[in-house]
Amino acid sequence: MTTALVPGSFDPFHNGHLEVVERATRLFDFVIVAALRNPQKSEPLFDLDERQEMMNESMAHLPTVRIVSVSTLLVEVARDVGASVIVKGLRAVSDFENELQMAQMNRQLSGVETLFIPTSSSHSFVASRLLREVARYGGDVSAFVPAAVNERLRAKFGGVS
Ligand code: PNS
Repeated sequence: MTTALVPGSFDPFHNGHLEVVERATRLFDFVIVAALRNPQKSEPLFDLDERQEMMNESMAHLPTVRIVSVSTLLVEVARDVGASVIVKGLRAVSDFENELQMAQMNRQLSGVETLFIPTSSSHSFVASRLLREVARYGGDVSAFVPAAVNERLRAKFGGVS
């Protein structure tokens, strides 16, 4: 039985993330999706509990997926859930440098491998940072996020339906 770990800030979770998780479920028996704090990023829009709730609703159709939210080192989460592989999506070359560094650090810390899945081109421009900005100014992001996330963004900022 293989378990993969899909980590991220997921602030908020969007359709590009969902695509990566769905593709990971076809490669591994179990997939743990972990919402974590990224210490490089400023104050989050949603707290970890809110993110976990939205992700539970957005991935209710995926029976082999479990969602956790933790404030700890990623390699500790991988060890605790028995994951031998970390799965990350790559949208563009610009993602690669940082992701490569994290993959190498995580492997050095614990031996865990990282597998990169290239996202489809239809999601390559979708980023949580941009979605927060568009939603904050009342723009419509419903094409880029699951319904559960769109509802929370509208509740926070209002905007078009
Ligand atoms: O979606 P993001 O912001 O690119 O995800 C980055 C994340 C949350 C996976 C990364 O910041 C992380 O692993 N945070 C947990 C703390 C940790 O283990 N840091 C060392 C990374 S080498």
